[in-house]
Amino acid sequence: MTKRDFIDTTNFTQAEIDYLIQLGLKLKESIKDGYYPPLLKDKTLGMIFEQSSTRTRVSFETAMTQLGGHAQYLAPGQIQLGGHESVGDTARVLSRLVDILMARVERHHTVVELADNATIPVINGMSDYNHPTQELGDIITMTEHLPAGKKLSDCKIVFVGDATQVCVSTMFMATKMGMNFVQYGPKGFQIKEETVAIGRKNAELSGGSVLITEDAKEALTDADFIYTDVWYGLYEAELSEAERMATFYPKYQVNKGMIDMAAPTVKFLHCLPATRGEEVTDEVLDAPYSVVLDEAGNRLTAMRALLVYFLNPHLNYASEAVALKYDAEFELMLRNAVIESN
Ligand code: CP
Repeated sequence: MTKRDFIDTTNFTQAEIDYLIQLGLKLKESIKDGYYPPLLKDKTLGMIFEQSSTRTRVSFETAMTQLGGHAQYLAPGQIQLGGHESVGDTARVLSRLVDILMARVERHHTVVELADNATIPVINGMSDYNHPTQELGDIITMTEHLPAGKKLSDCKIVFVGDATQVCVSTMFMATKMGMNFVQYGPKGFQIKEETVAIGRKNAELSGGSVLITEDAKEALTDADFIYTDVWYGLYEAELSEAERMATFYPKYQVNKGMIDMAAPTVKFLHCLPATRGEEVTDEVLDAPYSVVLDEAGNRLTAMRALLVYFLNPHLNYASEAVALKYDAEFELMLRNAVIESN
């Protein structure tokens, strides 16, 4: 079987994503009931971070601990990546030392290069292109907060504001699962046409749709979910606070007035961290219809599912014969241990 990585959900079928959602929910239920299944016993995750993180780092590490494994935080400046050792060499070496890798990188090509050179699974913990583990946590959150009587494929999700990697990822996942995706954002800060084409291709297969618009009524009417992220500036072009406000404020701020334009059952999502008072008001972020804390908690739900899926513990169990052989060999070695004092 060829190695699988989780770099881009475009390479996963709707059935695979659905399986990951169900696996995540089952693991969550089990842990809520007090049973921590040791599915990752003796497994080690290497976590490469080129940027800071709260949710991604903590949820990966907690997931490994809860399921019996261990995570190593490989911070910038503490490993050789970025120094004179190449990305390929780092990937090949870490493949001999840990069982699975995740990487949060500044540039998408770095996580692709890690995956291409590693012999173990590599998970993208966010790049400048996409954020697939956020996608999985978000679709789990929406599954838990569906309007009564609706399926995911009946729902409309509106991403408000800037075409950040989270916006692009929201489009990838929503269209994969048959949802109607809208980006409501200003020209110059909309998803690039070649990337929109991926969403449209997903939608053709799933029955979903993609709309990019500056028209508030067209965007927000009947929205089941409203999602926003910080205002950065598209991809490389980081904006100053004054530029952000001039570009997006007040039209693209998620406030109570905007919420009132959506369906009465609308739920509000934000990947966090939020800049309160810029892309979202306190009133919305802290409202009963805001599910941002469930969303942050479901990063852990997503990480558990991904780690178990990619480490595929059932296939990795040693047979009884292999276990007995090593038990006997270790027994002999320990009995005959050579211990010299100096
Ligand atoms: N949403 C998200 O990825 O948060 P962190 O940057 O804290 O990991």
